[in-house]
Amino acid sequence: MSLSSTPYRKHYHLFDEQNVDHMYFDISPAGEIDANKYSLYNFTGDPKLEYAEWDSRMDMMNSWFSDMKKSNRFLYERESIDGSKVVSKVIDPESKEIREMLNFASNDYLNLTQDKRILKKVNEVIDQYGGGAGGAPLLSGTMGIIRELQEKISSMKAMEASIVYTSGYAANIGTISGLLGHKDIAIYDMFSHASLIDGSKGSNKKFFAHNDPESLEKVLKSVQNKFINKLVVVDGVYSMDGDICNLPAILDIAHYYGAWVLVDEAHATGVIGKNGKGTVDYFGLEGKVDIITGTLSKSVGAVGGFVSASQKLINYLKYSSRSYMFSTSPYLPGVAAALEGLKLIENNEAGQERLWENIQYVKERLLKAGFNIGNAETAIFPIIIGDDNKVKEMTYRLHLRNIFVNPVPYPAVPRKLTRVRMTVTAGFTTEQLDYTLKQIEEIGKDLEII
Ligand SMILES: Cc1ncc(COP(=O)(O)O)c(C=O)c1O
Repeated sequence: MSLSSTPYRKHYHLFDEQNVDHMYFDISPAGEIDANKYSLYNFTGDPKLEYAEWDSRMDMMNSWFSDMKKSNRFLYERESIDGSKVVSKVIDPESKEIREMLNFASNDYLNLTQDKRILKKVNEVIDQYGGGAGGAPLLSGTMGIIRELQEKISSMKAMEASIVYTSGYAANIGTISGLLGHKDIAIYDMFSHASLIDGSKGSNKKFFAHNDPESLEKVLKSVQNKFINKLVVVDGVYSMDGDICNLPAILDIAHYYGAWVLVDEAHATGVIGKNGKGTVDYFGLEGKVDIITGTLSKSVGAVGGFVSASQKLINYLKYSSRSYMFSTSPYLPGVAAALEGLKLIENNEAGQERLWENIQYVKERLLKAGFNIGNAETAIFPIIIGDDNKVKEMTYRLHLRNIFVNPVPYPAVPRKLTRVRMTVTAGFTTEQLDYTLKQIEEIGKDLEII
């Protein structure tokens, strides 16, 4: 069913127009949906979209993208021609020229994606094992190098056993969905990563206020005796805010109410704890957390994900976690890179000290300049702006000055907290940081952010 359009508006074609308000969009002089007035939420997140036909949803989103491209503000999926380097060669989406950009958008905190020691090892492993693993582990078998990686993760995380997945996303979704049945519940910190939340799609879930043990306690009391199993889910380091989970208090409360605790160490591994062992080590809580998950794609510089826990839990997941059971093992050169990366991290040979010097330096300068960086404590810095257009503008102006940062608009974070997300890595020199901070300050003043 289609709705008539005025020359100034575009409408979704709605399946049942009685049920929803008209969903229309103002258009720009270029005739497309006015990019400045809308965010991704309008095209992918709005619950009313359930009434819109696919074709129409896609047309609207493409029109919005198209307007953004015309106004030179389209900075999604900028393409690098030389990988995730400290200074990356990036194709300018507008002029198509190559820009040498300071890369503050990568989670490769220790720059291990480019580490020669790791790449040498990867080549040796290619000679021995080749590329793909050829099948899922239960039926097609596993490989020595995968077993070694699993053992390395278990020893680093001080857990009995681990299994690896093709990504951190697959590990989270597979672990949570593999454990939770219809009579169980997952209780999430409200800033938990999407891959954790997606694990309980269609099953029971509740949220507690970010990093707030009292709020968790209220939720736990409200579900007492209503579910058979309860899983409290947190990130060790939060991906959009860079703050550290209040794990000791959360663990105490969860266990008091009989819930198990899962910590996702994606942004903590390689960054906090002794030699980068993660949040659990940082708080001296080894052996107390029930489940640890994580990714091998951030500070470890490779690809893949993992879950670590007791041997009996891992045995259970091997036969209940569908993204493990029904998926080919990770790419073996990636497994080799992850194994070498973890060895370097464990031996404190991956540049962790320099990373922390850079983190402290950037943090002090951003705070001194008057930016709101929330409770950032690690390598992730949210420059909180609370205005989508200013977020886009700042990202664009930084792009023109060869600084690559991520815009984080609504609905990725609440409207008042939209931000530019900047990640610091070990490889930056002080001169590069000085240049960047100067540009950020200048633009921040000009846009009246500080
Ligand atoms: C907290 C967190 N968990 C899990 C993931 C997923 O990891 P991967 O990129 O390996 O799928 C990410 C990021 O992408 C993340 O930020």
